[in-house]
Amino acid sequence: MAAGPEEGPSFAMAGVEEDDDTPMLSSRALEALKEFLSEQNSVGIGTGGGEGVGAEEVSLVAEDWRLSQFWYDRVTAETVADEIRALCSSASSRVACVSCPTLYAYLKQIHPDISAQLLEYDNRFKQYGSDFTFYDYNQPEDLPLELKHGFQIVVADPPYLSKECLEKVAQTISFLACPKEFYLLLLTGEVQQDRAAKLLNLHPCGFRPQHTNKLGNEFRLYTNYDPEGRLGGWEPTQ
Ligand SMILES: C[S@@+](CC[C@H](N)C(=O)[O-])C[C@H]1O[C@@H](n2cnc3c(N)ncnc32)[C@H](O)[C@@H]1O
Repeated sequence: MAAGPEEGPSFAMAGVEEDDDTPMLSSRALEALKEFLSEQNSVGIGTGGGEGVGAEEVSLVAEDWRLSQFWYDRVTAETVADEIRALCSSASSRVACVSCPTLYAYLKQIHPDISAQLLEYDNRFKQYGSDFTFYDYNQPEDLPLELKHGFQIVVADPPYLSKECLEKVAQTISFLACPKEFYLLLLTGEVQQDRAAKLLNLHPCGFRPQHTNKLGNEFRLYTNYDPEGRLGGWEPTQ
């Protein structure tokens, strides 16, 4: 597809006559800029090339902190992906990943047979094709009807630590979840613990999610089912 005028920066190219005052990028700077733009737009499942990275590291877009994006580290994403595998009792189990693109990417890499839908605000993840659904927590039920009550497993990581955000995400969870029985995993800050218990009947697990960039606030994983020997079990209530 040809790039339109609004689709990217225009560069002054070598060999093209330019006014002397026009700023020019050196070929090295141009290469670095191209690499940066390609990283920003690249998304998907693939092998990573970072330092100390194993062959199965998933490549993701750069975090955009304006969208409250903080990616899980590899151990966290793999641990949750393996938990989902353990929960998939039948081949027809469907998983909704609400605002957790890293989890979606690892899940599809490690267990590609699992059917998963990513609900996300960041349109860069459109590259996941029909597995991507645009989602804004401010419109919690503004979602395609075919997703209604269609998921046996829902994993959510709300973008904000406010009461309002959790209440709206809870509405989305009710919309998506299979009413008969569903497993819910919520990854969020410890400050949401009481609300998570009240709104969604969730309990904290011993497993502590970690991020590639350290967060200032304590982060927890909550479930609506007893994981027993997995995820460090439910923490005893105080
Ligand atoms: C705290 S991050 C969770 C990401 C998760 N830790 C991961 O690694 O996949 C919050 C997510 O919410 C998304 N988000 C931002 N604004 C949103 C909105 N208005 N509605 C829904 N999701 C939003 C961000 O793009 C981001 O993926």
